Amino acid sequence: MRRAIYPGSFDPVTNGHLDIIARGCKLFDEIIIAILVNPEKKPFFSVDERRDMLNAVLGELDRGSCNLLVDSFEGLLVHYAVAQNAQAIVRGIRAISDYEYELQMALMNRRLEPTIETVFMMPAEAYSYVSSRLVKEVFLLGGTLDGLVPSSVADRMKQKIAK
Ligand code: PNS
Repeated sequence: MRRAIYPGSFDPVTNGHLDIIARGCKLFDEIIIAILVNPEKKPFFSVDERRDMLNAVLGELDRGSCNLLVDSFEGLLVHYAVAQNAQAIVRGIRAISDYEYELQMALMNRRLEPTIETVFMMPAEAYSYVSSRLVKEVFLLGGTLDGLVPSSVADRMKQKIAK
């Protein structure tokens, strides 16, 4: 059983995240999409809202025989990964600018827990500039999110602002 953790903030989940999960499904039997609970950050969506949105969009994903679970975690990622009996951490790398930060994290995680491998995956070029941060900025300034996030996520963002 090959199990990986795909950690992140997912605030909100983007089509780029979903592309990475679909690719990861070709390599792993199970992927746990793990939302970081970070009390120091003020997120757009609560952890529960992010979990709901992920569960909704994962239902439509082409996953083959891969089992997908959504969870949240606090503290060190490698401690969580070991507790889940995972062998790997999946991270997406969009551009060279992601690489330095991702390399630092991967090497620190390896130092902390040498049994866990980090697997970097590249999303489709169409998503190479898509990030949750830019999605929120574009949305809040009135730009369209078509093709950047699933329509259910765009709807949730509109509902959130309407409240
Ligand atoms: O989607 P993000 O915000 O880029 O994800 C970053 C994440 C969650 C992977 C990273 O912040 C993380 O792993 N945080 C948990 C705390 C931890 O393990 N820190 C040491 C990493 S070297």
